Amino acid sequence: MRLNVAGRRSVLVTGGAGYLGSVTCARLIECGYRPVVLDDYSNSHPTVIERIARLTGEPVRCIRGDVRDGALLDDLLAREAVVAAIHFAGLKAVGESASRPFDYWDVNVGGTLSLLRALDRAGVRRLVFSSSAAVYGQSQQLPLAEDSPQAPANPYGHTKLAAERVIADVAATHPDWAAACLRYFNPVGAHPSGLLGEDPRGVPNNLMPYLAQVAVGRRKALTVHGNDYPTFDGTGVRDYIHVLDLADGHIAALRHLQTNPGVHCFNLGTGAGHTVLQLKAAFERACGHALAYRIGPRRAGDVAACVADPTRAREVLGWRATRDLAQMCADTWRWQRMHPAGYPD
Ligand code: WQD
Repeated sequence: MRLNVAGRRSVLVTGGAGYLGSVTCARLIECGYRPVVLDDYSNSHPTVIERIARLTGEPVRCIRGDVRDGALLDDLLAREAVVAAIHFAGLKAVGESASRPFDYWDVNVGGTLSLLRALDRAGVRRLVFSSSAAVYGQSQQLPLAEDSPQAPANPYGHTKLAAERVIADVAATHPDWAAACLRYFNPVGAHPSGLLGEDPRGVPNNLMPYLAQVAVGRRKALTVHGNDYPTFDGTGVRDYIHVLDLADGHIAALRHLQTNPGVHCFNLGTGAGHTVLQLKAAFERACGHALAYRIGPRRAGDVAACVADPTRAREVLGWRATRDLAQMCADTWRWQRMHPAGYPD
């Protein structure tokens, strides 16, 4: 067992200063690990590292850099006795991916390949990979299980599925390799302290941060992308999962890999779907006032509904999501109220 001075198992966390990465780093420390963060701050803030340290009472080592820099990774892995890596670093805007395929393939697939090479050279053959429900694409039988057909509908989804393929091919080269591909549904919420949350650059693409910015007065009104879908109220249905539940899923996967070599895929969702208008109503209950909205046209690339079957993660990892929509909204609202303009620069 590769332990550092404090007797903690070090875990390399790429993208550890990001929305999901930062909450996961806090949970890693609470669970006895020592995260070593690699982040280029292209979609995150240096402030976040200090926040994690404030929350946990543990200093957090953070190296600024790009996961595609093999020499940097070799140097980091030679100095830090990591036992595994969690790979969050990547580009994740579905709409943007269609206009930036070069970047999405280079960062999401090239970055994963670069990390795998460095880990293999260092003999650290344990990886938890941030994948996405976007690998399933559209018009699927719901709920989605891990063996549901995979037909990504956009370059973002294709890069996540391709990265999973690369991981599987590399893992087949050495019996020590153990990897978990975690397919997130819709991550939302914030750390209950209000110190860590989602702070998208520019106009939010995603529903929850947009609702939060309307609630805090930063945006005038929500545009609902279509209300003519074959759903309960005509608006899109998604499986929203609290970012803390997602973090716990990563801890459970890390533990599973200690005794289970090979490659394992898991859907991380709640198994429950909610419409846009249901989420808006839940957020209004959390913030205490009505949120202005208008009905607009459908958004290109959207599916009517996307809901997980989380059975496999429950049966194999002993993991299930425990936080409900009310807590997701309450934690998001606390974060947004404390940071009306996002993290301070
Ligand atoms: C949710 C619902 C919209 C904004 C994406 C990625 C996915 C994952 C999460 C990384 C839909 C509606 C939204 C708005 C709206 N990312 N909506 N008005 O598209 O389900 O998933 O983010 O892993 O891979 O695909 O999330 O929050 O954008 O949309 O009406 O201003 O809210 O139409 O029905 P999505 P979303």
